[in-house]
Amino acid sequence: MKRIVLSLVALFVTAIVVASSPERTIRPIYLDPDAPIEERVEDALSRMTLREKIAIIHAQSKFSSPGVPRLGIAELWCTDGPHGIRPEVLWDEWEQARWTNDSCTAYPALTCLAATWNREIADLYGVSIGEEARYREKDILLGPGVNIYRTPYCGRNFEYMGEDPYLASEMVVPYIQGVQRQGVAACVKHYALNNEELYRHQVDVDLSDRALYEIYLPAFKAAVTKGGAWSIMGSYNKYRGTYACHNDRLLNQILKSEWGFDGVVVSDWGGTHSTIEAIRNGLDLEFGSWTDGLREGASNAYDMYYMAMPYLDLIESGEVGTEELDDKVRRVLRITFRTAMNPYKPYGAMCSEAHTEAARRIGEEGIVLLKNERNNLPIATDAKRILVVGENAVKMMTVGGGSSSLKVKHECSPLEGIERYYAGKAEVIWVRGYVGDITGDYNGVVTGQNLADDRSVEELISEAVALAKDADHVIFIGGLNKSDRQDAEGFDRVQYDLPYAQDELIEALAKATKHLSVVLVSGNAVAMPWLDDVESVVQTWYLGSEAGNALARILSGEVNPSGKLPFTFGYKLEDYPSHAEGMTFPNPDKVYYSEDIFVGYRGFEKRGIKPLFAFGHGLSYTEFEYSDIRLSKERIAKGETLQLSVTITNRGKRSGKEVIQLYIADKETSVARPVKELKGFEKVALEAGESKVVSFDISPEALSFYDDSGKGEWRSESGEFEVLVGSASDDIRLRKGFVLE
Ligand code: BGC
Repeated sequence: MKRIVLSLVALFVTAIVVASSPERTIRPIYLDPDAPIEERVEDALSRMTLREKIAIIHAQSKFSSPGVPRLGIAELWCTDGPHGIRPEVLWDEWEQARWTNDSCTAYPALTCLAATWNREIADLYGVSIGEEARYREKDILLGPGVNIYRTPYCGRNFEYMGEDPYLASEMVVPYIQGVQRQGVAACVKHYALNNEELYRHQVDVDLSDRALYEIYLPAFKAAVTKGGAWSIMGSYNKYRGTYACHNDRLLNQILKSEWGFDGVVVSDWGGTHSTIEAIRNGLDLEFGSWTDGLREGASNAYDMYYMAMPYLDLIESGEVGTEELDDKVRRVLRITFRTAMNPYKPYGAMCSEAHTEAARRIGEEGIVLLKNERNNLPIATDAKRILVVGENAVKMMTVGGGSSSLKVKHECSPLEGIERYYAGKAEVIWVRGYVGDITGDYNGVVTGQNLADDRSVEELISEAVALAKDADHVIFIGGLNKSDRQDAEGFDRVQYDLPYAQDELIEALAKATKHLSVVLVSGNAVAMPWLDDVESVVQTWYLGSEAGNALARILSGEVNPSGKLPFTFGYKLEDYPSHAEGMTFPNPDKVYYSEDIFVGYRGFEKRGIKPLFAFGHGLSYTEFEYSDIRLSKERIAKGETLQLSVTITNRGKRSGKEVIQLYIADKETSVARPVKELKGFEKVALEAGESKVVSFDISPEALSFYDDSGKGEWRSESGEFEVLVGSASDDIRLRKGFVLE
């Protein structure tokens, strides 16, 4: 008994000593990772001086903002984004820091991710890139991008997720969640209406509220409200006369008030133009204003940022108060505690085998088989001589294109992938075919490839044609590249046709062989005047580190293609709603989006224009049959959710994946509505002969439109609707009507 009493006394004494130890009593709440984040934020805020508050809302270097050294509050480090972790640059310049341990895995471009139509793959993407960001000790990943594909001329479409707001919304959410589970913030960009590049710093966009809410905002909204994004990047352009980086309507009214965003609004690099607007209109963290860094400023260029000394001066002179400042500081502290000062985040990993595999899998699922006549693909197993033609078979595509340019640990080119796959099975020969872009340098990252070739177009074509005659299969690999005025930031395209005389080359090859596969590497649609003359066309996007391996596995049939187009391919530029009716492009001044909500397939279908390849199109090496469509009810009340199911059967001889697409058509409406709109999709894997029942919920939102006639609200109208289920927007297999009462 005595022993028990003594032990209890000892325990009690120890507890008192521990509880009153110096660390315990003086540890402030903001440093306690287990305290609720809002308490940490308020505690830290209360300890900061005015100058410290000003300091943490703008950059201290090209990609970082200072923390509060005195209080042990960490710096924030950003990285591009969105396809891989950018190599380190110098403190104040875009030039390389020449580290030797900053090579990354390049994941396929976001157009490819969108083309997978697979939410699990989007999560895999987010986790993989998030792990690399984390390993490199980055806190904010500058991506993903979800600007809508309004025109095939926009140089930056390859970094975005296509033309449909529903598809982009569904794909962006798992990407963000995957990244943020690593303790790294996603920074969704470029908010909003950054739909062209050349004049992105000056173009002033206007459009109806209906187009804004139905087409251009949903993916950002989903990123915030469903994905829980911790940061968002303002775009360079203006919206209704004010720069998007400090635009009251976009940032205060919509993002922060309507959507309840509690994260940080980061300016695009150099996207801030006014201190007072930045203070009042919702910008939280300013980057890149003085791209020349220290050389440009007096003693410290960063002091000259709009949200640096000019802000302090306004406060000290009493012209503005500190209410807005405290809100910005709270947001920066919140993201700091969520990322840099989260001791529970995982450690991350760099260039792991799992990352290589992820890059390959994303590529394989995103490659789209556009055309395949007479079973030209997969390449016959008895093919002995395979001719590969074209610059894009060998050109490194991870370097170039703007801020998404990368320094990779490895990049398997299409030719390498094909050679590796066919080693010991068939002879693979490569010829140049055309000369496109021979440069290979972006901000000091060099590919080391020498692509110089002085031969004439005729010489190059005749060499390829001569070899094509004796080949069992000819694979042309061309398309666009990452040089200016192709698929690149800061510029827009200048022609819808393929550049570098590729059309002539393809025509000539088509005459020389009956087994031609055209493989297009691009992030944009192109004209295909030779389409009727070629057997197969494959759209491969920019696939990153595993490009060649992914492509070889599709061409050989090792993997059955299952990608679907995230945007419409038109026959010609004028077929696109944004280029019809003599619209100018690009726009140095004001632009009004007069095609309104009729972007992409919504516009093609409204005007009855047949696309070259429709939104959602993508073939497989097997055949899928759709049957037995069932609706839970034929009449529903407003606010009710409807259930739909269909049976899908693999009727072919091999396993494959199909994307079942669900569109809704509003048959009785008082406003102009699209012929149909995507409101659901599911990707299913099926063995040969297998059937599955796939179910969808059709929520009330799927029936509504944004009524901008009054105060602005989402609304649905009673009357007849139709649900359409199919394999592409132009390949509807089943339909069923219902009535909204
Ligand atoms: C781009 C952003 C990028 C930033 C930092 C800007 O020019 O528009 O997308 O994240 O630079 O590199």
